Amino acid sequence: MASSRRLPLTPHLCLFFSLLTSNLLSSCASQNPSKEIGISPRELLESAREPEFFDWMTSIRRRIHQHPELGFEEYKTSELIRSELDALGIEYSWPVAKTGIVASVGSGASPLFALRADMDALPLQELVDWEYRSKQSGKMHACGHDAHVTMLLGAARLLQHHKNKLKGTVKLVFQPAEEGQAGAYHMLQEGALEDVQAIFCIHVEPSLSTGAIASRPGPLLAASGRFTATIKGKGGHAAFPHKTIDPVLPASFAILSLQQLVSRESDPLESRVVSVGFIRAGEAPNVIPDSVTFGGTFRSMKTEGFTYLSERIKEVIETQAAVHRCTAMVEFMENTRIPYPATVNDEGMYAHAKRVGEDLVSEANVRHCPPTMGAEDFSFYSQRMPSAFFWLGIKNETLGSTYPLHSPYFFFDEQALPIGAALHAAVAMAYLDNHSTEV
Ligand SMILES: *[C@@H]1O[C@H](CO)[C@@H](O)[C@H](O)[C@H]1NC(C)=O
Ligand SMILES: *[C@@H]1O[C@H](CO)[C@@H](O)[C@H](O)[C@H]1NC(C)=O
Ligand SMILES: [Zn+2]
Repeated sequence: MASSRRLPLTPHLCLFFSLLTSNLLSSCASQNPSKEIGISPRELLESAREPEFFDWMTSIRRRIHQHPELGFEEYKTSELIRSELDALGIEYSWPVAKTGIVASVGSGASPLFALRADMDALPLQELVDWEYRSKQSGKMHACGHDAHVTMLLGAARLLQHHKNKLKGTVKLVFQPAEEGQAGAYHMLQEGALEDVQAIFCIHVEPSLSTGAIASRPGPLLAASGRFTATIKGKGGHAAFPHKTIDPVLPASFAILSLQQLVSRESDPLESRVVSVGFIRAGEAPNVIPDSVTFGGTFRSMKTEGFTYLSERIKEVIETQAAVHRCTAMVEFMENTRIPYPATVNDEGMYAHAKRVGEDLVSEANVRHCPPTMGAEDFSFYSQRMPSAFFWLGIKNETLGSTYPLHSPYFFFDEQALPIGAALHAAVAMAYLDNHSTEV
């Protein structure tokens, strides 16, 4: 951006700048019908903010919020989505990965662009006291996936309304089980995204004000895996340690040693995490237990570092057990808890969505954000095709939508729904426009 300003102003560039200025002026003066997609992101936003459209979205979002369902159990949510798609006259395939849906809007021909929403809730008791709180005890949409579904339905309606202007096909991907169960992986396994060229998704973010969006090119979220280890010894009376093989000691050594994997074996400029989250041993202070079980998470901003960590976690625990005459079993639960790769934004897709976002919410409201060690199964898509993941601001102090994701107090600002719906639709329409082979 800045570099083009440093270039000497050749006559060619002067022309470019004057075109830019006149475009800018005309877009301020009129309704800004963007030449590229025939309809501007702002116009899409205005449609989504119409009272009838907005009420339709809040009603969907509240119904899903009141009836949260956990990963691979999103039957009612899936049913609600299908009935809305039916009402909009949009075709879809279902079931994909148990409860998932892939809907299709547009010409049916290439280019094919995908938009993704996740559908699952968390095993958490909602502690927000409001009219539409969760009716399922111990289950809550505390990560905003109810809003993700709603915004994608909003985009479906916008796109369907403008379907004659679509220069290709938009796939709407409603996937199950983002929270730890790799729903995205299973969608891909079932061929849901064959022939899709690129994908985009939105995630709500309560540290960012409503009206703003944020992302970055390159690595955005970490690769993440889990492990569980059981160290076996021989229990006995704690007053006679020599007659036992104490597993508490090697477990303690192992947990300390695991901390050196990041501090001593990783490039300090590469972000990695190893955290032990639980330890289960004996019950009594004077009894040495037979075994100790502990487990945790390990993360890395690069998928390569991740493989290294998993190998060393196993080695460190097994070796510490052996030094103390115990045996160890280390498990990564790869069948039930498939590790998530790192979520990496493709530079081109990021730049594309950023440009659309600037048209939608203004340049000042598109923020550059740092990567974090959170993880997302959107990474499975991003491994396969150019992708971009954007955070959507929902913070409003008055409403109290300031609690972090996964908090039992998490609260969503519904004013963000039209922004998300319009962003989805505009990113897709602009992508088809820019990749259409039509002349
Ligand atoms: C689409 O392509 C044009 C021409 O290459 C480019 O100027 C424009 O910024 C692109 N639009 C988006 C939203 O990426
Ligand atoms: C916060 O929400 C309230 C109630 O919906 C609204 O009146 C206010 O304008 C919002 N504030 C911001 C900064 O968006
Ligand atoms: Zn989430």
